Parts: sequence; C-alpha cells; structure tokens
Amino acid sequence: MGSVRVGDVGAAMARLRGCVHRTPVLTCGALQRLAGRRLLFKCELFQRTGSFKIRGALNAVKSLVEEAERAGQERPRAVVTHSSGNHGQALACAARAEGIPAYIVVPHTAPRCKQAAIRAYGATLVPCEPSDESRAETAARVVRETGGVMVHPNQEPAVIAGQGTIVLEVLEQAPEVNAVVVPVGGGGMIAGIAVAIKALRPDVKVFAAEPRNADDCYQSKLRGELTPNRHTPVTIADAVKTSIGENTWPIIRDLVDDVLTVSEEEIKRATRLVWERMKLLIEPTAGVGVAAVLSEQFQAVPREVENVCIVLCGGNVDLSSLTWLTELPGDGD
Ligand SMILES: Cc1ncc(COP(=O)(O)O)c(C=O)c1O
Repeated sequence: MGSVRVGDVGAAMARLRGCVHRTPVLTCGALQRLAGRRLLFKCELFQRTGSFKIRGALNAVKSLVEEAERAGQERPRAVVTHSSGNHGQALACAARAEGIPAYIVVPHTAPRCKQAAIRAYGATLVPCEPSDESRAETAARVVRETGGVMVHPNQEPAVIAGQGTIVLEVLEQAPEVNAVVVPVGGGGMIAGIAVAIKALRPDVKVFAAEPRNADDCYQSKLRGELTPNRHTPVTIADAVKTSIGENTWPIIRDLVDDVLTVSEEEIKRATRLVWERMKLLIEPTAGVGVAAVLSEQFQAVPREVENVCIVLCGGNVDLSSLTWLTELPGDGD
C-alpha cells in the first residue's frame, strides 16, 4: 500500500527494539461506563520524549545511518524537520543518539515546553510562521544551508513505518482489540497503524479522530480527494493542526474505516476526564481520540466492536496554557 508495507513496520519494530519503551495498555472503569464499551488506552504519553513520535523519528534516523553504511558513504551531515513540537523533540533526541546535528523548524506559536525540550536535546531551533507553507519553505531553506537531510514529520515513509509499531505492540498486549482510534494531523501515525493492522488483522476497524476545526481528513474522505485545511486551524489540539498529505492520503483513503470529528468543548471535556479519572497527564491532542469514542457519532458503531483501543498519543502539556480549564462551563459539577 503506497510506499509503506507491513514488512517496513516489522523492520522498524526490530530497529527500535530496546530503544523505545513498550508503553502500557491501561483500562478505566469510569470511562468505559461512559463509552458503553471496553476501552484499551495505549499510553504513548509515557513514551520517550513524551509522545509516540520517537518511534518514527528514530526509525528514520537509524535507516539513514544504515543506508549510508551499506553504500559506504558518510553519515548524514545533519537532519532537518518542521514540527509543531513533538516530532521536533523526537528528531532532536534521535539525532543526538546517533551523534548527528538536528535543525528543527518550529512555528513561533508552538507550546513553550515543546520548544524548550527541543533545545534541551541539543538541537538548533529555527522559528517560522504557524502555517504549513511557512514550515515547508523554512525547512527547505535550512536543508539548502546545512546540507542536511529532511525528515518529514508525517509523509516520510520511514516515519510512517515507525509509527505503525504502536499497533504491533497493541496486537501483542490486547489481541482482543476490535478497533483502534487514532488522532490525525499529517496522518503519519494512522497510516502506519492502518498498513500494519489491515495486513495482520483486517477485521480490526481503524477510526481517525479529528478536531472539527481541523477536519481535512474528514473532508478528504467525504470528497474522495486530498482536501487540505484551507486556513491554519484554531484548535486546542495543537499537534493536529497540520493536514494529511500526498503519502498518507492514499493509505487513509483505502484503509481507514471512518473519520470522527469532535468539537473543542468535547476535546477539553475528554482531556479533563482522563486527567481526573485516569490521573494521566495527556495533552489535548490525545483527548481528541477519547472525545471521539465518547461522542454520539460513535454510538452508531456496531456493538460487536466491543474492545476499542484509543492511542493516548502524547503528554507534552503546556501547563501555562491551562486557563481554558477554568473557563469550561459546568466546572466542579
Ligand atoms: C501528540 C500527537 N498526537 C498526534 C499527532 C498527529 O500525528 P500525525 O501527524 O502523524 O497524524 C501528533 C503530531 O505531531 C502529535 O504530536
């Protein structure tokens, strides 16, 4: 399927062994009762760098090094990417592990905790405007200036394959799974997951979850053609503002069963519920998947889809941004 196959996900699993955490799958009675189904939470917020992104970044960097060694060439001079924060942290961490300089282009609006973490991993941070165009243009300039290799946060096949390893673990940890719910930004995570699961367990449903304010994946599926967000979306789920792209769209078109969209209030409520009930400090982007499963729309999913895995994709919360919590109507009820 496209340029990523289940074998690439398997190879990524072998490459990452011992380098990333096998994150736990947790359950929660209170949330399960609300959803009316058994929920399995894949806790990627406990992953190294605080999100699943290290899987794809490390697979990409290790693959580049392997390819150079095989060809008898020098290792990459540098790696470059643009990122709302989590892939940037992950690439910075992966590059440091391999002794390669990293340049990370970050929208100046990205959460400060994420920017600080990128610097802490020793990478050079290059600010840009918060639009897909500015991110891409700035990264292309940095590639020209440094001679580095671009590692795209969600369209790079090695990144997509690395993200797919999440579901290989889920299949081992919870083989009873009937569906996986995955927040979607550029679509790298859901594409990797869909390629792996539809090859190994085609009976398992794959649902994308998106903020209604950033619904390019929903629109693309509806129209049957890649339909990027026309403007930079406004959403609390800062990690999924970006649109799906040329490499992830065909996989999503063919392998994702449905796309669920949720409102900002639903995302905030779901995020808060997970904090309160599960004591897990997820970032609002991870709340998108939870909100989708708690939504009315999900009630229409047949009852035999009983064991639903939600990927809690990250925990890099900007604690200084929590003013929205006190503004939620019905607080303290
Ligand atoms: C925590 C988190 N969840 C979900 C996503 C979306 O991943 P993708 O762009 O691969 O769809 C991102 C991307 O930055 C992320 O950081």
